[in-house]
Amino acid sequence: IGVPLVAGIAGSDSTGLLLTSRLPLPTPFTLPAVIPPVLAPTRVDAAADHYELTQRAARVEIIPGVSTEIWGYDGRFPGPTIVSRRGRRTVVRHRNELPVPAVVHLHGGHTPPEHDGYPTDLILPVGTSAEPHRGGGVLAEGERSYDYPLDQRAATLWYHDHRMDFTAPSVWRGLAGFHLVTDDEEDALPLPRGERDLPLMIADRSFAADGTLHYPSLDPTLSGRPGVQEPYAGGVLGDVILVNGVPWPLAEVRGARYRLRLLNASNARRYRLALDPPPPGGGGLVQIGTDAGLLAAPVRHDAVELASAQRCDVIVDFGRYRPGTEVTLINEFGAGSTASVLRFRVGERIADDTAIPERLSEIVPLDPAEAVVTRTLRFQSTRLHGMSGWTVNGRPFHPDEVHAEPRLGTVEIWRLISDFHHPVHLHLSPFQVLSRGTGGPGPYDHGWQDTIDVRPAEEAAIIVRFERYAGRYVFHCHNLEHEDMMMMANLVTVE
Ligand code: C2O
Ligand code: CU
Repeated sequence: IGVPLVAGIAGSDSTGLLLTSRLPLPTPFTLPAVIPPVLAPTRVDAAADHYELTQRAARVEIIPGVSTEIWGYDGRFPGPTIVSRRGRRTVVRHRNELPVPAVVHLHGGHTPPEHDGYPTDLILPVGTSAEPHRGGGVLAEGERSYDYPLDQRAATLWYHDHRMDFTAPSVWRGLAGFHLVTDDEEDALPLPRGERDLPLMIADRSFAADGTLHYPSLDPTLSGRPGVQEPYAGGVLGDVILVNGVPWPLAEVRGARYRLRLLNASNARRYRLALDPPPPGGGGLVQIGTDAGLLAAPVRHDAVELASAQRCDVIVDFGRYRPGTEVTLINEFGAGSTASVLRFRVGERIADDTAIPERLSEIVPLDPAEAVVTRTLRFQSTRLHGMSGWTVNGRPFHPDEVHAEPRLGTVEIWRLISDFHHPVHLHLSPFQVLSRGTGGPGPYDHGWQDTIDVRPAEEAAIIVRFERYAGRYVFHCHNLEHEDMMMMANLVTVE
């Protein structure tokens, strides 16, 4: 149990517990890139699209020649991708064949509270029955359905485990997948699509000598010992960078525009992603979207920063490179094995009728004058019962304690004050960034977001409108070790 490390924050490797793999790792850029399969509905009727997923342990080959046990949706890591049309109700039935309870949260979904995956609303393992538990949430035996209205803009959402105190080890084992929402507005734009629209889940992991995913917590189901997790200051970092479950893959692309939906699904690692070499003239990463969908206008970057849970949709025009060029997506916050992510090998130029319109969507800025409440929320380490933990306003997460009770239909300003890097995520409602410190929004703060990377000793202000639904949700730090170590709070919306 330590004091948070605030020194050396430029490279995130120096701030967390970096676990080094104990087996020979593959040569980067030799394994082919993969895209997770799109899940087919089991039934489509007038009311909804219905899907089924089974959460189970599976043995997969992540490191060539080595078998690794994961926990996955349908036994896959990442889980299958679900694609929903805006406003089309989507019902996902989850069956839990894992040895532990599960909770599914659709990150970025505007979901009624009973389907949002509250951290104590558990799906118990098949064959086990309900016992009262801490937090007293709703218990389902073996399986349950999550019902998503998805009446929201096209965006790159993702689903992942959210069980109180155990989200980090469960996601580390593989419980994460994409859920994309599409709509007419996006379809009307001449953006790359189909095979040139690539969801890329970036996640670091580490491997023990026997090929298992190496994670420091003691898990009662694996070791028979009480589930104790130590509060590693900066969270848990791995030395292997996976893209869609493949270490440092090689993607064959053609000389044309591609849409890369970048998702940082790492527990704690922050990335600064850039193209090496950059295309002639620079500005190779043209951002068109963020967590909650399209920006108003594209933003040209040489590098994009992504904290845990954030998404960044970029267009890369490989037609700007000579055929045969190898272009590496590097991580400027990494060092050694974590300094690179994946490589593209650029093939022949092809006729490209896609374009990046200068106007993508309409984003009406929320007006601070409309705000009825300003809340101050401090994300900080606090001594609790002689130990240091991560808290919001000095209080550890408790299901019965309410930190924010906004009224539906109103606008609020939240001042987020941080002692470390805390990617702050609100369930239910996306927000806009008003300021950082004394300045305006940063270069990655455009558009609608659901997660903001608040930096050490920084104060950021966000503005949010709570439109629907009434009920109990959470907001929390999305550094998953911080979240499990209590940096979470209730957000209860009221009529
Ligand atoms: Cu990505 Cu509360 O979650
Ligand atoms: Cu944090």
